[in-house]
Amino acid sequence: MNYFTELNTLLDMSYAPYSGFNVASIVVTKDNQVYKGVNVESAAYPTTNCAERNALQTAVTEGIKVGDIKEVHTLGRNAEKLLVKAYPCGSCRQVIAEQSANDAMVYCYASQTDVETFSIAELLPHAFLGAEL
Ligand code: THU
Repeated sequence: MNYFTELNTLLDMSYAPYSGFNVASIVVTKDNQVYKGVNVESAAYPTTNCAERNALQTAVTEGIKVGDIKEVHTLGRNAEKLLVKAYPCGSCRQVIAEQSANDAMVYCYASQTDVETFSIAELLPHAFLGAEL
């Protein structure tokens, strides 16, 4: 399913006064439950949270288990208010890999029709999933 319309609406909830870069993310589970997240920046810059991890953390808080996640969708909007792809950062890739049991698809939108799709295994090769701990 295409989540562009929902992502575009969600962008307005993003709190990004420092970078001016808004990100919206929607996590979809295998039974089609939907969890939303936006980036939330902070004046103490490193305490910023990304949209993807906020969506994932809400999903976990609401009860999803490792392997339940099917898809992660993202949309960015830059300081010029142009819609752009927001490729998940390295930290988000780690959390997506772990929570999806390395089996999620990631959809990066710039419009309704300009969408790039990746597997999480492609975005984060040789993921460290904790089996060695
Ligand atoms: N950001 C996200 O929320 N997700 C991404 O996929 C890329 C980057 C946020 C973090 C920060 O608030 C802003 O975008 C600029 O890095």
